[in-house]
Amino acid sequence: MQTTPSTPQSLRVLRVDSSARIEGSITRQLADRLIDGLQKRVPDFTVTRRDVAQGLPFVDADWVDANLTDPEARNAEQRLTLVGSDTLVAEVMAADLWVIATPIYNFGVPASLKAWVDQIARARLTFRYTEQGPQGLLTGKKVYILTATGGTEVGSTIDFATPWLRFVLGFLGITDVEVIAADRGMMRGRAAHQAATERIDEVLAHDWQTLAAA
Ligand SMILES: Cc1cc2nc3c(=O)[nH]c(=O)nc-3n(C[C@H](O)[C@H](O)[C@H](O)COP(=O)(O)O)c2cc1C
Repeated sequence: MQTTPSTPQSLRVLRVDSSARIEGSITRQLADRLIDGLQKRVPDFTVTRRDVAQGLPFVDADWVDANLTDPEARNAEQRLTLVGSDTLVAEVMAADLWVIATPIYNFGVPASLKAWVDQIARARLTFRYTEQGPQGLLTGKKVYILTATGGTEVGSTIDFATPWLRFVLGFLGITDVEVIAADRGMMRGRAAHQAATERIDEVLAHDWQTLAAA
């Protein structure tokens, strides 16, 4: 009897942390739970960690100039200017699943996470302009946004973080995005964290096979 070899389930994950806190960070705890759970379940699992809170450069005039120059025409200095950004772009391209752990800071994302987005949104690499308008090039990926807030309700009119993230991910070609929120922790206390933890456990119970098979 012939047997068809089964495809090993594999998952390449990029974990992006952006809380300034390590100890006591709710978003980091949520990411730990999701990543550890996936690691236990998926046979062929790899995770790349990018902690943007440790500091990323802002784009500057040299960066913009190098980025606008045709890749074949870049000189050595311009190529060097883009090396850090190239590394971040390679990380996002290689991952099937991104887990973005982000607090809401002053109604938006932390500046470090914005700096990361500025480094990965690269014309020709992660999006391009066509006659029909911009086209995202990072297709076939899924993103979980794990967020926590003190008082801001995620999805409300004063949440400028998760709608912006969804928009910019869509601009890059990623529309399969789920937000898991431990929001209004100052009002809801443990219930906020609990709700997010329960949703992560549901993902681990029901959705992980779909993620790994995608
Ligand atoms: C600089 C700063 C700005 C913040 N701004 C907001 C805010 O606009 N809205 C809000 O609900 N919480 C705000 N918070 C609270 C954090 O969102 C909340 O403590 C969250 O749990 C932080 O994520 P972490 O636990 O992963 O560190 C702010 C916290 C800091 C440190």
